[in-house]
Amino acid sequence: MFEVLPPLAPDPILGLSAAYREDSNPNKIDLGVGVYKDEQGNTPILTSVAKAQRILLEKETSKTYITPQGNQGFIDGMLALLLGESSPVLLADRVAAVQAPGGCGALRILSELLARCSDKTRVWVSDPTWANHIPLIGSAGLALETYPYFDKATAGIRFDAMMETLKQTQKGDVVLLHGCCHNPTGADLTKEQWNAILELAKEREFLPFIDVAYLGFGEGLEEDAYGIRLLVENLPEVIIAASCSKNFGLYRERVGLAAIVTEDSTTRKIAQSQIQSVARGSYSMPPSYGGALVDIILANANLKQEWVGEVNEMRTRMQSLRAMLVDKLAEYGAQKDFGFVNEQKGMFSFLCITPEQVKEVRAKHSVYFVESSRVNIAGINQHNVDALAKALVSVL
Ligand code: LMR
Repeated sequence: MFEVLPPLAPDPILGLSAAYREDSNPNKIDLGVGVYKDEQGNTPILTSVAKAQRILLEKETSKTYITPQGNQGFIDGMLALLLGESSPVLLADRVAAVQAPGGCGALRILSELLARCSDKTRVWVSDPTWANHIPLIGSAGLALETYPYFDKATAGIRFDAMMETLKQTQKGDVVLLHGCCHNPTGADLTKEQWNAILELAKEREFLPFIDVAYLGFGEGLEEDAYGIRLLVENLPEVIIAASCSKNFGLYRERVGLAAIVTEDSTTRKIAQSQIQSVARGSYSMPPSYGGALVDIILANANLKQEWVGEVNEMRTRMQSLRAMLVDKLAEYGAQKDFGFVNEQKGMFSFLCITPEQVKEVRAKHSVYFVESSRVNIAGINQHNVDALAKALVSVL
């Protein structure tokens, strides 16, 4: 049966990790998949998470099924984090939500829900966007369109062009926005730009679909929620896919949240039943473990404070790595001004070099990053930054 299928090329992001593992060069550098790494290049378990694991080990008395909805404590904690403790939409009972298997699971089940609403739904994604948005949304049967977002020539957002394109949206269209720390470019919307998007969403009546996988890695947990809260508090409907992979470091546990802000409480009940039925029909129920850990952390004031401290530490370290790379590139004689890397937010930056240069630096110096020129800033450290800067300068 399967011989009729063509073999596929490796995934553009995960395939890099496999190629990196196979490279025997002892000085190889991995700036591929978006995973936080410390100065030694390790991805340790956060201290707050390790403590929550110990609590869970004592507390958990059964491995019976949870529900398609997932852990309600996790859901409530995450909604408070994203929307604010006393968000008006929470008080008005306007948010349906389920725990999902990672941010990917959340994106997929929300896309399935959109497909249930209409088979004509178009989803507008930024150009460029995270590579996996395309299969996750497209495989649910939704049509994809793109809006201009990033200009490699200026390393800035093409905001006017973005708005011009989004003026063509029709009622019922969906616009995918990155809540913060745009993946892959690291170029984030300003508050004024979020405000303008809100006005356009009101005018064109499109539905914002916010993907937020890096909350806390941009400017702070509260600051990074600006765009989400603005749209949620001022529009009748918004959908949100959130991930706990990065800010809780729970990558392999697959912890995410799918939330649907509805026009009123009656519609919330409909949306809740529908999203649970999508979950049941896809994977039945989410894995329990990671969501239980997040629930424990967010419900415990001391652990939460410790976790916030760890998120802040990861963010400030990534900011200092940006500065270190920019300085080293200048020191080793780069003609190009890479100062824009300091302005970008979160885990990623677009170096704005060509795919040929990316391939050359990989072939000659074993430096691995995505062909678009996206680098994982957290893969840089004091030990590899000189070699990295020299290698980059050699291909410019
Ligand atoms: C990334 O963008 O590198 C991460 O979100 C990991 C992934 O699944 O692609």
